[in-house]
This record gives sequence, structure tokens and C-alpha cells, in this order.
Amino acid sequence: PFVVTENCIKCKHTDCVEVCPVDCFHEGPNFLVIDPDECIDCTLCEPECPVGAIFPEEDVPAGQEVFVGLNAELAKEWPVLTVRKDPPPDAAEWDGKPNKLPLLER
Ligand code: SF4
Ligand code: F3S
Repeated sequence: PFVVTENCIKCKHTDCVEVCPVDCFHEGPNFLVIDPDECIDCTLCEPECPVGAIFPEEDVPAGQEVFVGLNAELAKEWPVLTVRKDPPPDAAEWDGKPNKLPLLER
């Protein structure tokens, strides 16, 4: 499956959800996740993310392996999102900021 990683936190552009043919994105307060049990590896979402936060599980950047488990865990708790919404007004400021994981809201 594909995995949403750290750079989505506080950026949350949501362009990714519109292209997913199986509606497997789930939305939290400041982050999205992919349900690994539903993702069919179609690859369509990866280029849609303006901040490059989506990777195939086997290509998740070093140090971000924790996001594999977080996608699986949080997809069970958060509701599905299928329609794009505006990103946070300060999304651009958070693009590429390191160590955003402690800012992830549940
Ligand atoms: Fe959805 Fe395809 Fe992305 Fe998987 S790879 S989350 S099926 S758009
Ligand atoms: Fe996040 Fe990128 Fe989707 S910032 S919400 S993974 S388009």
C-alpha cells in the first residue's frame, strides 16, 4: 500500500483524496492517512500531493517508518475523506519543516 508521511502534517492539501478510486483516505485534525487494507496500489495519489508526502510502503524515507503503522492505526479511527477541502492557511510555512510528528493531532 501507499503511505502518507510526515510532510503532510499541518500541510494537509487533500488533493490526494480526489483521485483515489477506492476512497481509502481518512482525515484527522491536521493529517491524512491511507487505509492499507483498502489501498490497491494504483499510484494515482502520489503525484497529486503538492508537498510530496505520499510514498509506496517500500520507499518510505529513512526515519519515517513509524508512519506505516500510524496509517494503519489511524485509518481505523478517522472518517473517510473523498472531497478536497482548503488546506490550512499556513500550510506553505510547514512544507518541509523537520520533526513534525510531535505536532500530529489525534
Ligand atoms: Fe488510493 Fe491509489 Fe493512492 Fe492507494 S495508491 S491510496 S488506491 S490513490
Ligand atoms: Fe497530505 Fe499531500 Fe494529501 S499534504 S492531505 S498527502 S495532498
